[in-house]
This record gives sequence, C-alpha cells and structure tokens, in this order.
Amino acid sequence: MAEVREAVAKREGADVSRRGFLGWMLAAWSSILIFTAWVIGWSGQFMRPRLIYELSPRFKAGFPDDYPLGTVSLIPGRRVWIVHYQEGFQAIQAICTHLGCQPNWIEAEGIFRCPCHGSTFDRYGANIGGPAPYPLRRPALEVAPDGRFAVDMSRLKAPKNLAEAHDTSLFIQPESTSKG
Ligand code: FES
Repeated sequence: MAEVREAVAKREGADVSRRGFLGWMLAAWSSILIFTAWVIGWSGQFMRPRLIYELSPRFKAGFPDDYPLGTVSLIPGRRVWIVHYQEGFQAIQAICTHLGCQPNWIEAEGIFRCPCHGSTFDRYGANIGGPAPYPLRRPALEVAPDGRFAVDMSRLKAPKNLAEAHDTSLFIQPESTSKG
C-alpha cells in the first residue's frame, strides 16, 4: 500500500512540474514575441522619414491684371501684399519689422498699421511711426513665363531706411498684362 501511495505521489509531482514547465515556456515565448513586435514597431518608426509639410516659399500669385492700379492686395495665407503703384508693382512682406506681427492695410489712411505696438508704414513699406526699426521687407517678385506673378519669399530685400524703401528701381512693370 505504501508503495502504491509513493508511486501516485511521484506521478502527481511529475504532472505538477510538467505543468510548471509548460507555463514557464509559454510566458517566455510570450515575452519574446512581445519584445520582437516592439523592436519591429520601433525600427519601422525609426526608418520612416519625418516629413514636415511646409508651403513652398515660391508661388504664383495671379496675373498683373488682377491688381488694378492703386490696389494693395493681401495674398491669402501667404503674408505678402502685392501693391500696384504708378511706378510698377512690388511685393511687401506682411510681417512687422518690430516683433513680427502682421500689419493691416488701412485704405482710408493709405498706410499699414501694426496692431501689436502701433508701428505705421507708408504705402511703400517705409516705417514712419512706432517702434519698428526698419521698413517692411520685399520678397522677390517676377513675371513667370506663363504671364503670372511669381513671388519668392526666400529672396527678401530688406530696405534699411526711407530712401531705400522708396527706391522704385526694383519695381516691376510687366510689358503685357494680358491673361492670354
Ligand atoms: Fe509691430 Fe510691435 S510687432 S509694432
């Protein structure tokens, strides 16, 4: 009888250790699979290029005919005005040279006024009041082969004083303003 009991106990012990071993193996494989999935996910994220979608600094801005003489037109979403003077066209960056706020064009007064600290600029962008130290900057403006204006915000002319801001030699005068 004692031998039988001993044999049963031995067998139960073997079952328990087999179950323990299988549980241990399952936990180990689960850990390996989770770790492998994490490594694959991490390396996939690492390999993916981090793209930053930004607007191109160079863009088309309609035809010269779209800007009648005397108008100051803000290009939506671009922080630039296209101004049509008697002497030609120029682009003016809509960023205050004080701390970077966007001035407004005040048609009734014929000036740009910054809402942040009150700097004012004449219609050529020359600073005439307030804390702004310099005239507004001028992005490059050209007429593209298709007849439309091409503005390049990466090429900025930065007039240093009123005389430079009033220099109209760089204004452009398209030979033909037709859309055809
Ligand atoms: Fe324009 Fe200060 S940011 S006046």
